[in-house]
Amino acid sequence: MIREQLAEALETKLPMTRDEIIKLLEYPPNPDMGDAALPCFTLAKTMKQSPQHIAMELAEELKDSDWIAEAAGPYLNFRLNRRSHASVLLERIQNGSFGKPDIGKGERVIIDMSSPNIAKPFGIGHLRSTMIGNALYRILRETGYETISVNHLGDWGTQFGKMITAWLRWGGESTQNDTPQNANENTSIIKKYLELYVRFHDEAQSKPELEDEAREWFKRLEQGDETAHSLWLGFVEESLKEFRKLYERLGVSFDHYLGESFYNDKMEPVLEQLKEKGLLEESDGAMVVSLEEFGMPPCIMVKSNGTSIYATRDLATALYRRNEMKADTLLYVVGGEQALHFKQVFHVLGKMGFEWSSECKHIPFGLMRMEGQKMSTRRGKVLFLEDVLNEAVDRARALIQSKSPGLANADAVAEAIGVGAVVFGDLKNTRTLDVDFSLQEVLNFDGETGPYLQYTYARTASIVKKAASSFMNKEAGAPKHGSADNEIVADFSLMENNFAWNLAVTVGKYEEALVQAASRYEPSVLARYLLDLAQSFNRFYHHIKVLSGTEEEQAAKIKLVRAVGQTLGRGLNLLGLQTPEEI
Ligand code: ARG
Repeated sequence: MIREQLAEALETKLPMTRDEIIKLLEYPPNPDMGDAALPCFTLAKTMKQSPQHIAMELAEELKDSDWIAEAAGPYLNFRLNRRSHASVLLERIQNGSFGKPDIGKGERVIIDMSSPNIAKPFGIGHLRSTMIGNALYRILRETGYETISVNHLGDWGTQFGKMITAWLRWGGESTQNDTPQNANENTSIIKKYLELYVRFHDEAQSKPELEDEAREWFKRLEQGDETAHSLWLGFVEESLKEFRKLYERLGVSFDHYLGESFYNDKMEPVLEQLKEKGLLEESDGAMVVSLEEFGMPPCIMVKSNGTSIYATRDLATALYRRNEMKADTLLYVVGGEQALHFKQVFHVLGKMGFEWSSECKHIPFGLMRMEGQKMSTRRGKVLFLEDVLNEAVDRARALIQSKSPGLANADAVAEAIGVGAVVFGDLKNTRTLDVDFSLQEVLNFDGETGPYLQYTYARTASIVKKAASSFMNKEAGAPKHGSADNEIVADFSLMENNFAWNLAVTVGKYEEALVQAASRYEPSVLARYLLDLAQSFNRFYHHIKVLSGTEEEQAAKIKLVRAVGQTLGRGLNLLGLQTPEEI
């Protein structure tokens, strides 16, 4: 915001475009040095004058403007007129014209996200994909992209041969873990599936013929065998029911569920194309595309027994998304361990002559380690996301009870905070880094956490509400009995105070954070910004009494607090967190 405004003022005075000026402008590390600075070194070359001289001349030229410009050696330091800047900014926020920069210009982005495997538990990797994907979906939409989310379910592949084999052999048996406590609704079908899957692998060690049987079943499935198909459908539908429950809790929905099986009849034409283009080679009985020139292992397209693999389906998927769904950009929010797979698929597309392969982007993320034993011993070795969420919500409920006993809607608030804690605990990290996740840490109301932000948001809401009932209308800024005609003219002299001023400046940086988060596909930029904003707000709140002073002064403070609340609320929603008004 500051940089944009300043660039506008400088544009006519410099041989540069507005964007170039914006890039050049810096924010001084210490606000005492000013609100922005222009280093004049690069200008010296084009203007053929010393940077010191340029800084001095510009300061002179800006003498009568809104800006207070001071030359400091080769730098030009700017100070804003705090009162007028704050009032303009808060006005823009309140009328909604702030914070929706259109960088996407309607470009269509398909986001492949979540994409868990059917008949296997929803793992932490899938949680990260879901949350990062969901945040990117919202952030990109907010910045002018047309976003389409697709859940590329892992509903095809050799594991279904194994599942069918296991189901036919042992499906009807009650499994060892069937105890009275979990034989009721707590026993999810996915847990049963997992047990079958594990048993298959255990038994296959001594009976390798099981593997052959499984391969055979998958082959039959790919060929449309009815028994295979109806068993498969059962696995898919039951698993989906469970996944949907989780998505609902996480507040995530998808524009499309198009799993790998959807591409079953779309692989043949792609293989044809590969053949026509002379890209398919035989290797040990399999058909592959060589990627030797990229120093990569070949990409297998058809296995020696004639079945397709993950990469075959991804190739068909990319073509479908581009040609049928008309995607401009294809994002794949998938763990970093699949980097080679995506590089291979994208290179194959490139070799097929599709220039748009450069618009296919793997958005990788790191591993997440859950705090170890405590969470994972609850039900065996595998960690179930549902258990993590339940535990987080239980702990949130206990915290709320001690902090605000008697809170209305305590259960709903606990759900919002518990789930929010898990989600934010993920999103605040640079996505490519590995995360050590600790429930205690992500739930700390005083830490860099979702609950801290939600709590700060609720604090802003309660101040605005209190102000409304003490002397103002709901519309802060208007007196109780008045109409819009005699709205109180807010007195922004408070902005001379550093706490208030820093807060207003931080609010004004929202747009930049959003744009960066969008262009780097990095929700953590927005998450970190929100933490800065909340910290700045809490410093302000501890030093400045909002509901004191003249009505005009209070009106200005309320406008500021409300802008903070709006910004925090929008940001949190973009990251997929709920914002209860009262905690
Ligand atoms: N189901 C896969 C897995 O769990 C992730 C799928 C990601 N998307 C894709 N188009 N390959 O590993």
